[in-house]
Amino acid sequence: MCGIVGVVGQSACMDIILDGLRRLEYRGYDSAGIAVIEGGELQTARSEGKLDNLAKKLHKAPLSGHTGIGHTRWATHGRPTEENAHPHRSGSIAVVHNGIIENHLELRRELEAQGYRFSSETDTEVIAHLIHALRKDTPLPEAVFAAMKRLVGAYAIVVIDADDPTTLVGARLASPLIVGLGETANYLASDVAAILSETRKVVFLDEGEIAIVRASHVELRDASDFGPRPLVPTTVTWSPAMAEKGGYKHFMLKEIHEQPRAIADTLRGRVSMERLTVDLPEIPLTRSDLEHISNLYLVACGTSWHAGLVGRYLLEDLAGMTAHVELASEFRYRNAPIDSRTVIIAISQSGETADTLAAIREAKKKGARVLSICNVIGASIPRESLGTLYTHAGPEIGVASTKAFTTQLIALHLLAIHFGRLLERLDDDTCRLELESLLHAPALLEQALSTPESAYIAIARRWHEAHSMLFLGRGNLYPIALEGALKLKEISYIHAEGQAAGEMKHGPIALIDERVPTVVLNPRDAHYAKVRSNLAEVRARSGPVILLATEGDTDSPAEHVLTIPEVPPHLLPLIAAIPMQRLAYHMADFKGTDVDQPRNLAKSVTVE
Ligand code: AGP
Repeated sequence: MCGIVGVVGQSACMDIILDGLRRLEYRGYDSAGIAVIEGGELQTARSEGKLDNLAKKLHKAPLSGHTGIGHTRWATHGRPTEENAHPHRSGSIAVVHNGIIENHLELRRELEAQGYRFSSETDTEVIAHLIHALRKDTPLPEAVFAAMKRLVGAYAIVVIDADDPTTLVGARLASPLIVGLGETANYLASDVAAILSETRKVVFLDEGEIAIVRASHVELRDASDFGPRPLVPTTVTWSPAMAEKGGYKHFMLKEIHEQPRAIADTLRGRVSMERLTVDLPEIPLTRSDLEHISNLYLVACGTSWHAGLVGRYLLEDLAGMTAHVELASEFRYRNAPIDSRTVIIAISQSGETADTLAAIREAKKKGARVLSICNVIGASIPRESLGTLYTHAGPEIGVASTKAFTTQLIALHLLAIHFGRLLERLDDDTCRLELESLLHAPALLEQALSTPESAYIAIARRWHEAHSMLFLGRGNLYPIALEGALKLKEISYIHAEGQAAGEMKHGPIALIDERVPTVVLNPRDAHYAKVRSNLAEVRARSGPVILLATEGDTDSPAEHVLTIPEVPPHLLPLIAAIPMQRLAYHMADFKGTDVDQPRNLAKSVTVE
């Protein structure tokens, strides 16, 4: 998830672009760049790191011009360096891009054969060279149209050409792009936050639309036949702060609702139904490596550790592999059996968590091979790993992890299928079912998110003064009970405990009385009946129950019932995580705590 801005018609377009990028920095902040056309010349400036670095550079050597584009990056392909920062150029053409081009390797080979020289590791650079190759004697908008026919994946792009200095061309497929309609200038941007200071009149581009933007007017074209499309402006009433949150009250709530997109981006280009397999070239383990593993450890902290617990079920079920799930802060000091046949999978959203980093360094000293699952390209843990499976959740601003967690579950699911196929322990039929369920996951998440907020607000109104809450789950929902409790603790400051439902009668049931609500995760799965009897044990002690059930399950002996759609067993943790996140969010919001930056916590714990 990156931020892009384009301006045409404004004399000081450099400042407008920089300001727009500042408002989009929540979308990505590992490198940035700008390109401006002046006097038929294309001038660019790029920098690694936060936007301030680019601003400093431009302060020393400002770019003047009326047409320009800018980009703030969240790396998906290629490390966060100046060479990989956008805009990417090809002759007089410059391109900024948000999304993932799946067939970039194939296009790169083709363009190299035509003599194009590549200077970056990115997927985006192919777009610049492709448009350049198609531009000969063709107007810029038509060249972009032709390029879209060749691109596979998700993208929002904005293109300028010094040979056509008064035109911006934007195109979108799966990534958001809007047009801003100004008095004397017009704009393109990833979202309204970037241009709200210039105009409130915007047009949200639809899937497969091309925008031809000039200072005096804007045209929309259809990417399927280049036919004209209607321009339907909307007036935005949001404040700039609200705009950065996409109209949501908190980043956490926005990130909860971004999960279908985050899952789709994490799956993108990795599932092949034709070959009935998962493509993970970034995981360099062979069948023989897997067969000779001595110990497999999933190492992490906090929410990422809960993802590891779910991963263990997936690796057992789909690859017949045993995985030890370890708290990094404990594992780093333990004398666990580690040798050269040991594989560590470190799970970390930030990739900077000190305990997890130290644990992998300790293990490497003893010869272990380290893989990682991470959400930040170029972070320390990926840099010290043999291979990294990146989740594409985009930047996660809320301290309480939501979309990063669910994309970690998807990454572990992909890994388990990959290992299962490599070891030939996952047959074609089961593999097809698993792949189909994964491709269906974004839609199932949409369904789970369609429950109105009012359902959660009602529970929050009733229980926001509770001093303690319990969360019960069995099987692969036990880690989700732990996650539900952690989310509630983190942001509402209510004491909460996640328990394996079968453990209740061995002690925790003593906590139950009419003041302690218990969240019981009891959808229709293999453990349905067992959990239902655990629920009865709670009610027998006058414990109020918040039940998570499958839609249509009419037998719901509980004070409050939250439902999720019927889903395949391996997707249950993913879908059940949503109501847990939303319950915690509304309890905290009802209490008025600082949901995005709760007390005593940091987004990335870089100290032991
Ligand atoms: C989760 O909401 C918390 N922010 C925290 O438990 C977090 O999961 C933990 O600190 C691990 O962070 P990481 O995934 O960035 O390594």
